[in-house]
Amino acid sequence: MKIVVTGGAGFIGSHLVERLLEEGHTVWTIDDFSNGRPEFLSHLQNHKRHTLIQGSVMDRVVMKKLIAKADVVYHLAAVLGVKNTVDDPIKVIEGNIDGTRNVLELAYPRHVKVIFASTSEIYGKNEELPFHEMSGRIYGAPSVHRWCYATAKSLDEHMCFAYAQKGLPVNVLRYFNAYGPRQTNSQYGGVVAQFIKAALKGELLEVYGDGCQKRCFTYVDDTISGTLAALKPEANGLAFNIGTNRSISIRELANLIVSLSNSKSSIVSKTYDEAYGAGYEDIPAREPDLTRSQTLLGYRPSVKLEEGLMRTIDWYRNHI
Ligand SMILES: NC(=O)c1ccc[n+]([C@@H]2O[C@H](COP(=O)([O-])OP(=O)(O)OC[C@H]3O[C@@H](n4cnc5c(N)ncnc54)[C@H](O)[C@@H]3O)[C@@H](O)[C@H]2O)c1
Repeated sequence: MKIVVTGGAGFIGSHLVERLLEEGHTVWTIDDFSNGRPEFLSHLQNHKRHTLIQGSVMDRVVMKKLIAKADVVYHLAAVLGVKNTVDDPIKVIEGNIDGTRNVLELAYPRHVKVIFASTSEIYGKNEELPFHEMSGRIYGAPSVHRWCYATAKSLDEHMCFAYAQKGLPVNVLRYFNAYGPRQTNSQYGGVVAQFIKAALKGELLEVYGDGCQKRCFTYVDDTISGTLAALKPEANGLAFNIGTNRSISIRELANLIVSLSNSKSSIVSKTYDEAYGAGYEDIPAREPDLTRSQTLLGYRPSVKLEEGLMRTIDWYRNHI
């Protein structure tokens, strides 16, 4: 197939582009390099079926030309990271809504399938675990910027389902804490990347709050398997959780990374106020119900946390 990947020079996007090419597809990658890096795709620069375009999903002229060539658009371009949501909410709101609207509006008249990268964040602070795709969303007050990313992604999903109702083949993938090689290790996200980087440098690993908050980390190869399976027509019109059921607290994760990387780093606590300013609310636990993605997509995550962390540690050892 002919496939456009937005945000394809980013962490998940660059792995997706590799796998799509391996599967024989022709791929156009568009990325503005605001967070992605061209070097993540440099090994593909002479690939006959791959074209890398530096550009923005906000640019309707460029996007119209690209979508005119495509059977499918994987829309991953986004502004993410907890720190962004508290420091620059307008960037997060515009960066997540305007591009998605462009993609959907331009795909609709051509009947080009859209696969949208959403997030487990959209379930908010719903405490009923595990989250299944029809679980409700519970957010804090709109004056708390922390909720703007989840709100923007929720509105994106509403747009996707509105276009699905009009006949567009579209589906939504809700990623649960993907990690692996090439995850950015900036302050803007990725606790696994931050912990590994600190552990390898012998620096302090900072655990926010009491460290009891739990997440289900997903090795990027499994994230990509679920993402590829979404090409199936049976997936159209639906949302899918893409994650694992191995739940681990952030403090346990920090201990595990220190141990797996043979680090002498210490683990320290930092309050949310110190990390993100006053008023930050964290989500105590997130866990996906994978019944739908297993049944309809055949999704079976297979990489154990320890194995995925070792592969990621090895990558960082060579790239720090
Ligand atoms: N990593 C995770 O655990 C996770 C979890 C839930 C959802 N997601 C979603 O998956 C997608 C990919 O996330 P990621 O972790 O790879 O992040 P990432 O920041 O590495 O990738 C996003 C890419 O989009 C690019 N981008 C941003 N704005 C753009 C624009 N206007 N035009 C073109 N490119 C633009 C960035 O340069 C970056 O390469 C995002 O939509 C994100 O919301 C990721």
